[in-house]
Amino acid sequence: MSTDPPVGIHDLNFATTSLVLTHDELARHTGANPAKYRHGIGQTSMSIPAADEDIVTLAANAAAPVIGRHGTDGIRTLLFATESGIDQSKAAGVYVHRLLGLHRNVRVVELKQACYGATAALQLARALVLTDPDQQVLVLASDIARYDLDSPGEATQGAAAAALLIAARPAIAVLNTPSGLYTRDVMDFWRPTYRSTPLVDGKKSVDTYLEALTATWHDYRARGGLPFEKLRALCYHQPFTRMAHKAHHHLLKTVGTTPTSQAVIEAIGATTGYNEAIGNSYTASVHLALASLLDSDAPLDGETIGLFSYGSGSVAEFLTATVVPGYRTALRTGAHRRGITDRTPLTYDAYRALHGRLLPTDGREHLLPHQTDGTYRLAGVNAHQRLYTATPDRSSQAPCEDQYDEPRRNEVRAAHSREATGHERLAQHGRPGFPPTRSG
Ligand code: CAA
Repeated sequence: MSTDPPVGIHDLNFATTSLVLTHDELARHTGANPAKYRHGIGQTSMSIPAADEDIVTLAANAAAPVIGRHGTDGIRTLLFATESGIDQSKAAGVYVHRLLGLHRNVRVVELKQACYGATAALQLARALVLTDPDQQVLVLASDIARYDLDSPGEATQGAAAAALLIAARPAIAVLNTPSGLYTRDVMDFWRPTYRSTPLVDGKKSVDTYLEALTATWHDYRARGGLPFEKLRALCYHQPFTRMAHKAHHHLLKTVGTTPTSQAVIEAIGATTGYNEAIGNSYTASVHLALASLLDSDAPLDGETIGLFSYGSGSVAEFLTATVVPGYRTALRTGAHRRGITDRTPLTYDAYRALHGRLLPTDGREHLLPHQTDGTYRLAGVNAHQRLYTATPDRSSQAPCEDQYDEPRRNEVRAAHSREATGHERLAQHGRPGFPPTRSG
């Protein structure tokens, strides 16, 4: 009999962007029937990153409250999963490591396999904690889903980061074995390194998602996984929330049950709330589905939840987690809901202007307007380096500047002091539909 301690999710927090575009506003300009967005793909709005937000700031904003609650002492590894990477060499997690003031004796690495990356990170984290149950692993899933304007994917954009602290004897959910796995080389969605938006075969991607669901389920069962009836709810990767409906309908058929709308709603109804409002957050999406379920009224103590993770290209996994009795005391329901309701709505024109922004590549100094509400922001770029700062009035929680060596510390301070002038230089700033510049 195993003497291993249970390992799983000890804390879970997510952060999204400061700005939002509603699908009604999008429909007014694309000419689409709003019902297509609301019911056909199941989205009401999508998070849009401000000029000074990126996957690093989102991840740091998601992780800071986790560090605030649990401290840094137990963390020996930071795994950063993303498919919207900002550097082809340096792991985005190294910036977050500094922004959060983590110890130097920590390993940091970035993982990529489309929307599946964070699930691989969870499994690695679980294995690491099993080798030494005194250590914790911080898993960060952070992505910005950005498609070409006027493409079918445009309505399925979004952005968010989830921070999961993986530990022995977790407070929220135990990660179980076995899991079901599936990989097939398929071109349904990919982004060559020279592109800022992906290439997508939308219909094929839906089909390969469903094919991977069937395959992972069969593998999960063949390895001794629980029968379908034992799963209280299912959290699917949600590129758009109707996909979870399609997936569950498909799984019901796979297990030999006649699919009904009621059976689908019972299994997934509580998992789609956050993603409906945030949109696709790629590798964070399945964790937002889990957060939505945990934050709902459904009593889940001791219940086992199925999780299906799909990353185009494609790799998929079906796994389960058992909710720890008393889990509610560890949740962050209020903060999650505020993160969604506090976003500033964009006009369509402002959204398009933001969408068109790309950081310059000439290596010159370029300061960004202060638009974000978050603690951490991308102040600008200089000499091909990203300059991250913490909002000064919250800097007690954000020891980022102190962790810089002297030359970079001076550079960041100088960027802070030049910020006001930078605002004035930026053409978009002050146009109708843009949020006011934050002070401080
Ligand atoms: N009222 C209600 N429903 C309506 C409607 C109306 N007025 N008009 C259309 N609809 C329905 C359609 O019937 C359709 O429903 P079904 O899928 O059930 O048939 C749905 O709305 C979508 O309509 P279309 O198929 O015409 O939509 P589209 O051509 O705009 O493409 C999409 C939809 C393929 C998902 C596209 O948004 C896309 O390419 N998205 C990006 C790729 C993606 O998300 N793929 C998902 C699987 S891959 C993955 O999961 C990884 C990842 O994160 C990317």
